[in-house]
Amino acid sequence: MFENLKEQPADKILQLMQMYKEDPRDTKIDLGVGVYKDASGNTPVMRAIKAAEKQLWEAETTKAYTGLAGDPAYGDAMIKLVLGDAVARANVAAAATPGGTGAVRQGFDLIRMANPDAKVWVSDPTWPNHLSILKHMGMTKVDYRYFDSETRGVDFEGMMADLAGVAAGDVVLVHGCCHNPTGANLNMAQWGELVELLNAKGAIPMVDIAYQGFGDGLEEDAQAVRLIASKCPEVLIAASCSKNFGIYRERTGLLMTVCNDPSRQKLNQGTLNYLNRQNYSFPPDHGARLVTMVLTDDALRADWMAELEEVRLSMLGLREQLASELQRLSGSDRFGFIAQHRGMFSRLGTTPEMVEKLRADHGIYMVGDSRLNIAGLNKTTVPILAEAIIKVGI
Ligand code: LMR
Repeated sequence: MFENLKEQPADKILQLMQMYKEDPRDTKIDLGVGVYKDASGNTPVMRAIKAAEKQLWEAETTKAYTGLAGDPAYGDAMIKLVLGDAVARANVAAAATPGGTGAVRQGFDLIRMANPDAKVWVSDPTWPNHLSILKHMGMTKVDYRYFDSETRGVDFEGMMADLAGVAAGDVVLVHGCCHNPTGANLNMAQWGELVELLNAKGAIPMVDIAYQGFGDGLEEDAQAVRLIASKCPEVLIAASCSKNFGIYRERTGLLMTVCNDPSRQKLNQGTLNYLNRQNYSFPPDHGARLVTMVLTDDALRADWMAELEEVRLSMLGLREQLASELQRLSGSDRFGFIAQHRGMFSRLGTTPEMVEKLRADHGIYMVGDSRLNIAGLNKTTVPILAEAIIKVGI
């Protein structure tokens, strides 16, 4: 049997991680995988998480199973964090998942169960693993235009023109904030137009929100998902705690369904529970419990929010520094988009050859589509990157 297995394509982001590890140059700079790093290059455990972990160690008396949807308090706390007061709790079903990726996977599974013919529309580009999972599941995906390679902003006209082709029952996957890989995002007026189009067509939005708090702020970054949840009859939301709580390896995510008919909540919840049971039974609890503790304790929550804000502002500062360094070196404003983009990533909009040149000649690692992780930089490496960008001729 095993001889029938075929080699699978390596994940580009994870492959880059490995290449970086193996590069002996001590001047190398990792702008690949989406992991936050502080000025000294460490990915710290956030203070509130550390404190919660200590409390949990003292207080936890059992490791017995929770529920198929995870600890209900986690679902409640996360629903509140993501959706605020946009919809009534009774309209939401939710299940803890292993990370945001788990939520995406379970979301696709639910779509397939509900409508095997559904097409999933994805932004071009999107997070490569969205595509990989859809392909693995044998689901049909359709690209919609998203990135304007001239302005490095959103090609909103192109996006709307493409999405005019969605059929009733199709699913449109959007990034709730901090678009990965481009860093280019819709403004609220555009989100409003998109919602109108989807509702007119009877299409269902699925929102992947993995970077809440990394763009314009915790509340600001949730505005789009809240608008969608309050205006669309049916919505899927995949949320991740990996980045904003810094608990990457704990695999902590949440899949939500929002339905304007609360009588469907029970069936949706039952389906989410069922899917968890089929795929891995009970979801991991440790990260979820820490998140719940942080979100429900005033002092821990305040400290977490303060640290998250430090992280966000440090990334914004690096964006501004890089944009102005590039302006100085190039004598033009053509890199101004870096300061406009939001979140962990920016897409430079250059060729794979240039990206390879940056890696080979300067030890600078970014994903082949020219996505760079802003949080991989610090005040000292920004000028090095800027100089390399100009030197290779981008
Ligand atoms: C990324 O896009 O780099 C992150 O979401 C990490 C991952 O799993 O790909």
